[in-house]
Amino acid sequence: MGNQGSFDKSAPKEYVTTKYLEFQAKYEDQIRESDKDLLAILNDFGTDRAGPIRLLDVGCHNGAMLCHIKQAFPGWSLAGLDLFDEVIDHCRKNEKLAGIDFQVGDVRELGATGAYELVVTNKVLHRFKDEHLSFSYASICAALIAGGKFVSFDYYHRFDQELYIVERTREHAEGLTLHAHSYEKTEKMLKEAGFSSVAFQPFQIGVDIPPSDETDLMITYTRREEGGERLNFRGSLYQPWCFLIATK
Ligand SMILES: C[S@@+](CC[C@H](N)C(=O)[O-])C[C@H]1O[C@@H](n2cnc3c(N)ncnc32)[C@H](O)[C@@H]1O
Repeated sequence: MGNQGSFDKSAPKEYVTTKYLEFQAKYEDQIRESDKDLLAILNDFGTDRAGPIRLLDVGCHNGAMLCHIKQAFPGWSLAGLDLFDEVIDHCRKNEKLAGIDFQVGDVRELGATGAYELVVTNKVLHRFKDEHLSFSYASICAALIAGGKFVSFDYYHRFDQELYIVERTREHAEGLTLHAHSYEKTEKMLKEAGFSSVAFQPFQIGVDIPPSDETDLMITYTRREEGGERLNFRGSLYQPWCFLIATK
């Protein structure tokens, strides 16, 4: 770990390296709706570029997204990074992920310079406090080539409002802190970190996911607005899932 503070609450090791690996396993075969949209964003970037593309998935966990990226873009050079040895060992042993370079590391200290055309964080940064985000954005920016893109799927919204929510559940009785950041503040932080432009694309989920009767099950379900738009909830929490696309 680096010296910029503990991640105990934002990445509970005990859970991430055991039960969460079991929970995430199905997504290697069943692609999530948001992962389909992420592939489409990556495809747009790939279509615009000549030459090989190097992509780093930060906070890759079991590598499910990298499985889908590998299938969709067989010519790309792929790498995955996560905080915990256990999840990286798990990825290295998975034959579906053969050919992908996996490293243990911290997003705040990638230590790479101009090594990637694309860096992805998928459902990682909403657990980060502001000071951790600043370090992360600067580290990601340094790791990209000029003109490279950072694509993040997380909680970003259009209101002038910063939300810090402590979610205590049966699974996480100690409480997980979730952060939802405004477009304006996020753009300011990214520009301070060295990015030249930032765009947001709110996630519009294309399917209905019914709520479970099990009130302790914290997985996404959808509700429809009158106009038909679906909103994503987990328990009583509305989740402002959104893609961020920042260009260096
Ligand atoms: C909620 S999971 C998301 C996993 C995966 N990207 C997905 O889309 O399902 C967050 C992941 O980020 C990792 N993570 C948390 N803090 C990190 C950090 N500072 N550097 C690198 N990875 C981190 C966790 O270990 C965990 O695997």
